[in-house]
Amino acid sequence: MSGGDNLEFEIRPNPAPVGDAERAALLANPGFGRIFTDHMVTIRYADGKGWYEPRVEARAPIPMDPASAVLHYAQEIFEGLKAYTLPDGGVAMFRPDANAARFAQSAQRMAMPALPVETFLQSLREIIAIDRSWLPTSDEGSLYLRPFAYASEVFLGVRPAMEYLYLVIASPVGPYFSGGVKPVSVWVTPDYTRAAPGGTGAAKCGGNYAAGLSAQAEAIEHGCDQVVYLDAIERKYIDELGGMNVFFVLDDGTLVTPPLTGTILPGITRDSVIKLAGRAGRRIEERPVSLEEWRSGAASGRIREAFACGTAAVITPIGQIRSADDEFVVADGGTGEVTTELRKQLVDIQRGRAEDPFGWVHRVL
Ligand code: PLP
Ligand code: COI
Repeated sequence: MSGGDNLEFEIRPNPAPVGDAERAALLANPGFGRIFTDHMVTIRYADGKGWYEPRVEARAPIPMDPASAVLHYAQEIFEGLKAYTLPDGGVAMFRPDANAARFAQSAQRMAMPALPVETFLQSLREIIAIDRSWLPTSDEGSLYLRPFAYASEVFLGVRPAMEYLYLVIASPVGPYFSGGVKPVSVWVTPDYTRAAPGGTGAAKCGGNYAAGLSAQAEAIEHGCDQVVYLDAIERKYIDELGGMNVFFVLDDGTLVTPPLTGTILPGITRDSVIKLAGRAGRRIEERPVSLEEWRSGAASGRIREAFACGTAAVITPIGQIRSADDEFVVADGGTGEVTTELRKQLVDIQRGRAEDPFGWVHRVL
């Protein structure tokens, strides 16, 4: 059951799925991460046994011993990707192989066993197939897939656990920000950092997000949508937002984004933007950008636009930047041309409306 073997999933359909009328009402305005489909995937792991009991079953609470290691030492990783309704009524996932690869990298960083890539992909296909009726068909809607794994061993010693549970849940979603696609404001936290060299910044583990919640609360107190983190050493360079990578658009059309040095999440949307822009002949620089460069560039016009990108946020313009001692805007606080163009290109590929030159769209149904 390892090394990429196909697992035979046991399918146990939900005996009491949500009715058609109720589901239609929920899908009319799903928000983000509030409603869930009828099923979930579960796969267990034990040292010496490998991954076993792959199942598709009714979504339900998971009984948990209070001494489960994850509740104490946070050995947990997750992924986030979307499935879309295609123009012909089919369903496709966007770059699930990249999420599988990152899930394996996160597992390695958190001393967890790697789930074979093919099992990860198959688990996603299974939940999409059984919960197909939950796929939004609206222009902004998609099915957000959340695969995750945690240390389920009942043990309080501090060491990598010997038992894990992998799950996939699915949530029909609209835009991540409640205002839809309009510029967001960001708060440059003076107090907190997200990740230091040698830490877990490049892993998608729950602990990174827990550590960011005080900063996010601070952002909200200051009337901002998201936190922007500076590097942990000099407190000078832009790393990323709480849940998104960042790009800057210069006045000559060049795209600039912070480099992958191990402290930021290697975003799949970030990589997609780089590849799409590169194919279109746009210049791309992966290099550090200081808060001071952003501030002075916004004032001089050298930095024309800035945007955040991620699976949940897609491509979202950044309008206003607020810090303890300053406040400024980019693109007059509006949505820049390049941001709009890149967003359209990406979304058209994701939704099967445009050619897919990189083979990113994986049809499932
Ligand atoms: N950075 C952080 C901290 C994130 O949580 C996310 C979201 O997944 C991203 C960046 C963007 O990654 P991706 O484009 O793979 O969704
Ligand atoms: C995603 O974009 O998938 C994330 O995990 C980010 C989070 C803010 C929802």
